[in-house]
Amino acid sequence: MKKKVLAALMAVALTALTACGAAPAAPAASGSGDAAPAATDSSSSGSGKKVAVAMPTQSSERWMHDGANMKAQLEELGYTVDLQYAEDDVQAQVSQIENMIAAGADCLVIAAIDSDALVNVEQQAKDAGIPVIAYDRLLMNTDAVSYYATFDNKGVGTKIGEYIVQHADATPENPKTIELFMGSPDDNNAHMLYAGLMEQIQPLLDDGSLICKSGQIDFEDNNTLRWDQQTAMKRCEDILTRYYADEDLNICACAYDGLSYGCMSALEGAGYTDANWPMITGQDAELMATKHIISGKQTMSIYKDTRLLASKCVTMVQAVLEGATPEINDTEQYNNGKIVVPSYLCEPVPVDKDNYEEVIIGGGYYTKEQLAE
Ligand code: GAL
Repeated sequence: MKKKVLAALMAVALTALTACGAAPAAPAASGSGDAAPAATDSSSSGSGKKVAVAMPTQSSERWMHDGANMKAQLEELGYTVDLQYAEDDVQAQVSQIENMIAAGADCLVIAAIDSDALVNVEQQAKDAGIPVIAYDRLLMNTDAVSYYATFDNKGVGTKIGEYIVQHADATPENPKTIELFMGSPDDNNAHMLYAGLMEQIQPLLDDGSLICKSGQIDFEDNNTLRWDQQTAMKRCEDILTRYYADEDLNICACAYDGLSYGCMSALEGAGYTDANWPMITGQDAELMATKHIISGKQTMSIYKDTRLLASKCVTMVQAVLEGATPEINDTEQYNNGKIVVPSYLCEPVPVDKDNYEEVIIGGGYYTKEQLAE
């Protein structure tokens, strides 16, 4: 059974990745345990019911994995899957979901681009009796959503913040400069991450251990629409030119690997070398980011096992379609403005050069060979 799931997962992942021309970097197959979730139930209960999965973009490696994992795990249970990506185009995602409803989806799984734009279409689903599950990103301002599968989003920020506090060696006597590159303002995850991060680093900003020379500490000043790499690169270039002509930037607190890549380009362009290269954080432990961690270009990332997330989401699909009981571990934090959405929060794990082998290779997410390519 497990072998079948794995084979299906790998095949779908490879097909999807080849189709869009991305490097075949789907997480490697793994043995057992939490890090290698197979489908949640060995019976094929789906009996052809149609599950539509709306994903944000193929431009980021993680969403390719998410989509491939969802498709493989649902198909293994006997569901038919309609998986679509909207390339970060808000209106395209609205149209895709309208079409999914019209095509007779029995359940909708949505990883939103801009969840506020989806309120009407979610209402249409509700009116048509189609249950909706939020995947990774909370669906805001709607009572049409049944469950939410995600990672502990505030916990991601807390762990990035703790890493900075523990490793930056910043004191009032020996302060370090820091700039923040946060996520998209239309994504609830970005706000939660920022809250977790600030809780950790605010005391160091207050006592002068950390100095943000641009002064861009508020989320409204340091967010990055659509988590876009180019936008982060340009903002970093601008900050380096305006505020760091005479002093090095020591820490780039990036909320996602794509933003880290943007900052790296800006730093290289500004002449930074190994001698003054800053600490750079990230999120998702993308293949590229993990390679950068090994080479020392990126300091850490947050590993989010997309196989585990998919498996939790699949239990929610089964719950709404088959009357099963999904595993829920948070019924308080995720108030979407209309209701508190019952959620399962997977645990994010910080990875750096000291533990990537154990966590990432050991967990079967990437192989040694993939990381060496
Ligand atoms: C967020 C997610 C992050 C990252 C980001 C950009 O919603 O929590 O892990 O993937 O989107 O895609």
